[in-house]
Amino acid sequence: MAHHVDADTLQQWLTNGQAVTVVDIRTQEDRALWSIPGSIHIDAYDALRQGSQGALADAHFPLDTPVVTICNLGRVSETAAAALSERGYDARSLEGGMKAWSLAWNTAEVRVANNATRVIQLRRTGKGCLSYLVGSKGQAVVIDASLPPEVYLIIAAEHGLRIHFVLDTHIHADHLSRARGLAEKAGATLLLPPQDRVRFPFTPIGQGNSITFGEAALTAVKTPGHTLESMSYLLNGEALFTGDTLFLSGVGRPDLHADAGAAAERSRLLYHSIKGLLALGPAVLILPAHAAEPVAFDKNPLVARVSVVAERLRPWLTSEEAFVEQILKRLPPTPANYARIVEWNEAGVLPTGDPTDLEAGANRCAVT
Ligand SMILES: [Fe+2]
Repeated sequence: MAHHVDADTLQQWLTNGQAVTVVDIRTQEDRALWSIPGSIHIDAYDALRQGSQGALADAHFPLDTPVVTICNLGRVSETAAAALSERGYDARSLEGGMKAWSLAWNTAEVRVANNATRVIQLRRTGKGCLSYLVGSKGQAVVIDASLPPEVYLIIAAEHGLRIHFVLDTHIHADHLSRARGLAEKAGATLLLPPQDRVRFPFTPIGQGNSITFGEAALTAVKTPGHTLESMSYLLNGEALFTGDTLFLSGVGRPDLHADAGAAAERSRLLYHSIKGLLALGPAVLILPAHAAEPVAFDKNPLVARVSVVAERLRPWLTSEEAFVEQILKRLPPTPANYARIVEWNEAGVLPTGDPTDLEAGANRCAVT
């Protein structure tokens, strides 16, 4: 019988830098969609499912560290763990597979010039969502919460912070927003860009509006395109939370467009929004809501200055027409679950049961 390990424990091991060999036995196709940072890939899925254990017979790993086998749902990985156990390895199957791993996260601190301000990047590594806890003098805000509210409450408490404001940059389509739930649990004010999409009470934060917490200030900058209501937030004039409008080496997709004409119009808006953000100054730090790849357990924040991002995007931004053409040409297909996630986010409730049932799958927020 195979031994098991749950996603929380594996997350803890990787956070602590404990030696572990993570063996991803899925197909090349599944592996390409998302993976666990540092994992080894052996495409053994079909062979194991057909009862052949030969696919892992030639695999050799360090004998003195645990081996964790990974598949999509944690069933075929049991067969893999059993086969490796018979060969003397301390092998365990990840319970729930990549679906359970979808909620795994780690953190990194972003250095900012203002000494009184701390910026913690919370990375949902199993899905690529980035959210932020920003604190100053005991008061904090959370931006684009994508993890269970308890995670933010724990990290805030660890830093001696109380969450006063919870903000989303836009109505998300790739993950179930935890902003409303977090605001309720923290007794914080929920701030959203002005729009008539959501069906629950919130405090609108419009273009140029600011909130202050401790010695820090966050100012809203309207950036339509990815969605019509998309807002970015500028912290102390030096760091910019861009949501899905601008990534470190890509731009947001015009989200959930009804047709090609709408996508073109959104792309035009996005072009001007991005030009506006890049004009805020070369030293401004860009802090997006998504990573392009599974986020490593390395405590290195995913951040870049405007000057660096502008250089990466230079070929895209030669003209509005060229930009729109590029976006439309590269637009990835809208994942099937996006429309349903939007419905839940507009209602402001989480589906009953396991939220990863809906959230699992490829992340396609960016055009790169
Ligand atoms: Fe989005």
